Amino acid sequence: MKPFVPEHIAGLIPYPPGKPLEELEREYGIRDSIKLASNENPLGPSPRALEAIRSTLGRLHRYPDGSGYYLRKRLSEKLDLPFEGIVLGNGSNEIIELAIRAFLVPGDEVIMPAPSFLVYKLAVQTMGGKGVAVPLKDFTIDLEATLRAVTPRTKIIFINNPNNPTGTVVRKEPWDRFLRALPPEMLVVLDEAYIEFARDPDIPRGFDYIKPRGGAHVLVLRTFSKAYGLAGLRIGYGVMDPGIADYLHRVRQPFNTGTLAQAAALAALDDEAFLLRTRETVWDGLRYLYEEVGRLGLETLPTQANFFLIRVPVDAKRLYEALLGRGVIIRAMNAYGLDRYIRVNAGIPEENRRFVEALAETLKDLQPAT
Ligand SMILES: Cc1ncc(COP(=O)(O)O)c(C=O)c1O
Repeated sequence: MKPFVPEHIAGLIPYPPGKPLEELEREYGIRDSIKLASNENPLGPSPRALEAIRSTLGRLHRYPDGSGYYLRKRLSEKLDLPFEGIVLGNGSNEIIELAIRAFLVPGDEVIMPAPSFLVYKLAVQTMGGKGVAVPLKDFTIDLEATLRAVTPRTKIIFINNPNNPTGTVVRKEPWDRFLRALPPEMLVVLDEAYIEFARDPDIPRGFDYIKPRGGAHVLVLRTFSKAYGLAGLRIGYGVMDPGIADYLHRVRQPFNTGTLAQAAALAALDDEAFLLRTRETVWDGLRYLYEEVGRLGLETLPTQANFFLIRVPVDAKRLYEALLGRGVIIRAMNAYGLDRYIRVNAGIPEENRRFVEALAETLKDLQPAT
C-alpha cells in the first residue's frame, strides 16, 4: 500500500534539468565534454566569492544567520531599497515557491507565459493552484493577452524578462501600461534571472517598480546563479514591498540559505570586475555563435539573455542525443513545445568553437546529402 497521493501531486511532471557533465561522461565513457545547456557562467565562480568561501569554512559547525543580515544589508544599500523588502532564497527558485505558498489557496489561478521557465507551472500545481498559460506572440510575452486572461480568481502573474527559453523581452511602455491596468491586490512576479546580460536600454528594470505606483504590486526575482557564477551554491533573492516580504518570511524555513552561500553572494555582489568580464565573455560568445550558426544556414532568434534559440532542420531531441555522443550538452526544446528548436548558452571561446564544429558534423550525419 502506498500513502495516499492527491491528484495534483500525482499529475506532476518533474522539471527536466540540463544533463550534468559528470553524468554524460559516466554514461558515454568520454571525457572533456562541454555543457552549454543551463545558462551557467562559463568563467566559473567569482574569484572573490571563492575567497570568501575559504575564509568562512571554519564556521560551518554553526547554523547560518537565518536573517541573512549582511547580504540583505548590502543589497539594500546597493539597490537603495528597504532591507525589510529583501528575501533571500535557496536559489531564486525558492522565492517562486514562497510567493505561491504565501498567497495562494487551492483553486486560485496563476498566469504564466508559455513557453517560459517550467518551474512556475510546477510550483503552482504543487500548491493545488491552477496554472493559466498565455501563449507567446512572435516568441515574446504577450502582455495584452495576459491582461485578458485575468479573472477574479487570479492571484499572481509571472513575467520572465528576458524570457527563458526565448531570450526575448517586454519593453518599458507596454510594461508600464500592463501594471497600471492591474489592481493593487495582484502580485506580478518579475523574474530577472538574466537581466545582467540585457543590453537594450528600453527594458524595464524591476527595482524601479517596487515602491507601489498604483496598479499591481511587483516582486522582482534575482539570482546569483548566472552572472555571478554561483549556481551550485543555490542562492537568489526577491525584492518587494516590505508588507509582502513579511508573509514570505513567515512561510520560509528559518535557515533557508547556508553560511557559505551568504558569504559568497556578499563577496560576488561587489566583484564588479568579474561581472564585467562575464558580460564581455557572453556578448563576444553570442556574436561568434550567431555568426557561425548563421553560416550553417540555420535560423536564430535575437536574444537579450546569455542563451538563444536555434531552429534546426531535424527533431531537436534527436540532434541533442547525437550531440551528446560528441561530448556536447545543449538543450532540446521539445519539453517546451518547440520540437524544432535547441537552446544554447554562450560559453568560453573554446566551448563555442567545439559546439559549432559538433553541430555542423551532427547535422551532416542526421541529414545525409542526397
Ligand atoms: C527564468 C529563470 N528563473 C529562475 C531560475 C532559477 O535560478 P536559481 O538558480 O536562482 O534558482 C532560472 C534558472 O535556470 C531561470 O531560467
